[in-house]
Amino acid sequence: MPSAQTTFPLNTETAIPAVGFGTYLISNDDAEGAIHSAIAAGYRHIDTASGYRNEETVGAGIRKGLEAEGLSRADMFVTAKLWPGNPAWGDAPKTGSQTIEECDASLSRLGLDYVDLYLIHAPYGGEMRLEQWRALLDLQAAGKARSIGVSNFNESHLDEIAAAGLPMPDANQIELHPWSQKPGLLAHMAKHDIAPIAYSSLVPLSTWRTEPGQDSAKTDEMKADGAAFQGMADKYGVSEAQLLLRWGVQNGYAVLPKSLNPDRMRQNIDLFSFTIDDADMAQMATMDRGDGVAWASGDPSK
Ligand code: A2P
Repeated sequence: MPSAQTTFPLNTETAIPAVGFGTYLISNDDAEGAIHSAIAAGYRHIDTASGYRNEETVGAGIRKGLEAEGLSRADMFVTAKLWPGNPAWGDAPKTGSQTIEECDASLSRLGLDYVDLYLIHAPYGGEMRLEQWRALLDLQAAGKARSIGVSNFNESHLDEIAAAGLPMPDANQIELHPWSQKPGLLAHMAKHDIAPIAYSSLVPLSTWRTEPGQDSAKTDEMKADGAAFQGMADKYGVSEAQLLLRWGVQNGYAVLPKSLNPDRMRQNIDLFSFTIDDADMAQMATMDRGDGVAWASGDPSK
């Protein structure tokens, strides 16, 4: 029976739990308690990044959660991400040796001696992109990352790695939900055996990122759509959020819901007691609206 501990393979030795706890926009005041609560609620996969500026408190939450639940490090899957720099923002791209230093610094802030997955957060590295990828291969060989991958890469960024004759990423973490389905990119990734990891699964919720200062490029049309999936969710006796997350895992994408509310944390990991039927999956497949909206502050394809 599939359960919250269902995993998807990343490489011959590593598999990623289908539901992870996202930590973007969780403040340092909240992170330790939120991660502890998430682990108590059953999450065994935590997704963070140096760019979220909360690694120390996320690390403290992981330690607290493991201790409280009587778990060991091996029971937990942790993803961290390299901030690659971005010349367009006056932020010099990281060199290979800086990439190694950045990973070491993240491990030290998290209080871990390895991560289960290390990603290049975005393809902003320009001419340094391949050097950054080679550094991730070195980090994997050194045992600091059990699996390695990228995030926000498009077909051309992946082709660049293939053309260099380098091993391909284990995963690409991208914005995926019924309004941004990226069929071309997913087909390309499947050809190279690159696992999709979905972020911002909850974009279609009318309540998604409505606080001031939260990145979103939702169109007025999307905002007007309100509870677009409520009818379908009612049919299965679940919330709209559960339906959207189930859509991801049923397609084979690990999902990364984030909530500070313990009831919603539990709800978001309870995705295995119902199945979206073929007719509804087919209906959802027709709802694609193209590019994502979660990362309004920059075009990650550049
Ligand atoms: P809250 O923390 O109050 O639950 P993202 O990770 O893409 O930024 O989305 C997270 C947002 O979705 C948060 O604002 C979170 O609010 C909200 N959220 C998370 N789970 C649910 C849920 N099950 N139902 C409604 N809103 C949710």
